Amino acid sequence: MLPISELVEPDRVHHTVYTDPEIFDREIENIWEKAWIYCGHESQIPNRGDFYTVQIGKQPMIMVRGKDNNIHVLYNRCPHRGTQLCGARSGNTGSTFVCSYHAWTFNLDGRIKGIPMAHGYDGTRMGYDNPSCSVKTAARVEAYRGFVFASLKHDGETLEDFLGEARIAFDDMCDRSPVGEVEVVPVCHRVIQHSNWKFFMENQLDALHPSVTHQSTGIAAGRIEQELKKKGETPPLYYHYLSTFASSFEKWDSVQTVNLPLGHGILTGYMGLRPDDQDTKEYVQAMYKAYGEERAEEYLGRSIHHVLVYPYLSVQSSLQQLRCLRPISANKTMSEIWHFRLKGVSTAIYRRSLWYYNLVNSPSTMVNADDLENWARGQRGLESDGGDWVSFHRNYGSDTIEDGVTYSSTGMSEGVMRSQFSAWSKYMEGSS
Ligand code: FES
Ligand SMILES: [Fe+2]
Repeated sequence: MLPISELVEPDRVHHTVYTDPEIFDREIENIWEKAWIYCGHESQIPNRGDFYTVQIGKQPMIMVRGKDNNIHVLYNRCPHRGTQLCGARSGNTGSTFVCSYHAWTFNLDGRIKGIPMAHGYDGTRMGYDNPSCSVKTAARVEAYRGFVFASLKHDGETLEDFLGEARIAFDDMCDRSPVGEVEVVPVCHRVIQHSNWKFFMENQLDALHPSVTHQSTGIAAGRIEQELKKKGETPPLYYHYLSTFASSFEKWDSVQTVNLPLGHGILTGYMGLRPDDQDTKEYVQAMYKAYGEERAEEYLGRSIHHVLVYPYLSVQSSLQQLRCLRPISANKTMSEIWHFRLKGVSTAIYRRSLWYYNLVNSPSTMVNADDLENWARGQRGLESDGGDWVSFHRNYGSDTIEDGVTYSSTGMSEGVMRSQFSAWSKYMEGSS
């Protein structure tokens, strides 16, 4: 493996950062098992004993609601001989975890509760007083507005410092509810992409690709929108979700990317989600009542398309969508695709989120499917001997940097990728 400084140059990166298993293992160690990683939303485990299993780096973990109502994140490993405590993805374990092998039992915070025939350990190092007989816990667990994160390392920045300005993802999502909260729709889609996780992160703020990759879908939807308008009908909002992908290059270029420290980023540009209909009017009135007109307008008028929490989250807050990456190997990545309900709003407003979820982000969508195809082809290309470098030269030299934040000169700048690789290098060199 080449030194990091030889893999990442300011305007290009070596192809092996997408393909080399040794580099992938180092990413797991220096990034995924070190940074704050999203586990889930607290509404996934509303009751005592509810659990949801989650992967952090290569570690199988359990997010569980404790007796004290606090959320704990434990390694899914029995301290006796290593058996995974939870075989199911989610469920309720009651007041105790019981290992299926020899029936050691554990409290919901992981502490040892019972060892059958415990006298067998008399005179050994094992016993109730030995902390290594309890389930190991994640070093740190914190939540921000109901979104739960864990870090496997004791040292490092707080969750709030890690998220930095990318906190707006969760603020924008929750503030759109008149009660300031969202709840998860309990089932997510899971997609395996046959490509490195970086393809996903780069693509989310790549404003050059939609008009090309998603042209066929966008143009078809736009055509129907026009036909309905000609007939004097109002096209349903979901056509707009799709037709907007075929916006002109000029339009996509006019958005801006804000590239934050640690690789996070924001793509500005709102998608015009305030149609003039009765459902929207009622929703806006509920927001006015909750927050007053000025603040409600501030919340509803935020101009955000995507927020990235590097290296694994893509949040479309205005439509309550969240996608989370769980890397499997250098050339295989799982994404979880979640959506949320704004609390205190009508089903009609919720349906807008559901439409977007199914039409744009689900495995059956024509939009995401095109992206997945590009990334798989990208992976195969980068695994070949057809070239050593990946180019990120677009608009190089014209970004503006203020207080560690890089503002792209145009929406289509590859400043996004340059910023992500700057963060990647710091993580990989151990300086982040
Ligand atoms: S492996 Fe869990 S009780 Fe033995
Ligand atoms: Fe795309």
